[in-house]
Amino acid sequence: MTMPSTDPSGLSPADVERLRSDTPASRTTHHLNNAGSALPPRVVVDTVVEHLRREEEIGGYEAHAEAQDRVDAVYTSLARLVGGAPDEIALSTSATDSWLRAFLSVPLREGDRILVSQAEYASNVLAIMSVAGRTGATVVAVPDDADGVLDVDALRDLLDERVRVVAVTHAPSHNGLINPAEAVGATLRASGSDAWYLLDACQSVGQVPIDVRDLGADFVSATGRKFLRGPRGTGFLWTSERARELEPALLDLHAARWTDESAYELAPGATRYETWEKSYAALLGLGAAADYALELGLDVAQRRISWLAELVRSRVSELPGVTVNDRGRTRTGIATFSVEGRDARDVAQGIVSAGVNVSYSPREYAVRDFDAQGIAGQVRVSPHVFTVEEDLDALVEALEGVL
Ligand SMILES: Cc1ncc(COP(=O)(O)O)c(C=O)c1O
Repeated sequence: MTMPSTDPSGLSPADVERLRSDTPASRTTHHLNNAGSALPPRVVVDTVVEHLRREEEIGGYEAHAEAQDRVDAVYTSLARLVGGAPDEIALSTSATDSWLRAFLSVPLREGDRILVSQAEYASNVLAIMSVAGRTGATVVAVPDDADGVLDVDALRDLLDERVRVVAVTHAPSHNGLINPAEAVGATLRASGSDAWYLLDACQSVGQVPIDVRDLGADFVSATGRKFLRGPRGTGFLWTSERARELEPALLDLHAARWTDESAYELAPGATRYETWEKSYAALLGLGAAADYALELGLDVAQRRISWLAELVRSRVSELPGVTVNDRGRTRTGIATFSVEGRDARDVAQGIVSAGVNVSYSPREYAVRDFDAQGIAGQVRVSPHVFTVEEDLDALVEALEGVL
């Protein structure tokens, strides 16, 4: 398995072979859809299955009790992954679940303003529009700068006492750009704004080193199944100190304790953003995925994944009619392109039919951004650390066959 020698990750060919051995499906598929749902390492699947077996053997609550130390360790692993503390983490079922638990808890009223990044993910924007419609708050998109990422100067100009929420998607689903999340936090702090800063890190957690101490966000939402390589149906939310003093919109007997006929106490820490029932099998798998990513190193993962995505961009852009749509100063492992005169859905379908897993990003995932760029839809290719040159060869061959 020979990769071009310019891989900047520091991983040797033997290291990459080990990553592939850890990922059995990397031998049998060309999986370039890790921004959709990544191939999990074997340890993640084993962890999930073993816990399900234990539930079968001794009962669900009993298996949970038996695994309590390992469940606690999941919080520690996720906290390490984002540079926070275990009691700052709430477990959830997806990035959207995490994000909604945060956003719906922020009190809003008529006249408030919600600032959103141009590339904000559809599910966030839909909730924002719905809440704005009900409360009388208004939604304003922060323009992008010349590099196509959130313009921090424009954000600064928009900040005033009416701004209650700033929602930024760190790494969009539909573009390889990465928004300047730390500069957004620094700008909010410097301006003295008390707006709630929600960072959607769904596509960045697992492929980019993240340190919440540098971000200055109030909430950071993430999912398990994407670049982190955890099981489906898992996610988490990091919460700031003031977020952990806010009353969440959703309360159950896990997030709060019913103390008297008409009184309750909120759970301490980020637990207040959780609900009782969870798939402990899946969450233990999420912890295993976090441990796996930490052991490899997020800086190593970022260098390899972004290098592979850059190779994808350079190789597909040599083909006739192909335009790469990615913007930004630094780029993620998401490579996107359109083909002149062709419906991107058909192109993506053709590549998939040829045995290469890619995905189609429709306009509805980020209407504001697609319309601003004049793009109707596009093909998305997302390699991971276990991707090798043969996968990219297969992609190019499949694309050539479709053109
Ligand atoms: C940037 C971004 N945010 C949020 C989501 C939603 O994630 P989930 O499906 O885990 O709720 C996605 C999914 O593709 C995404 O790409």
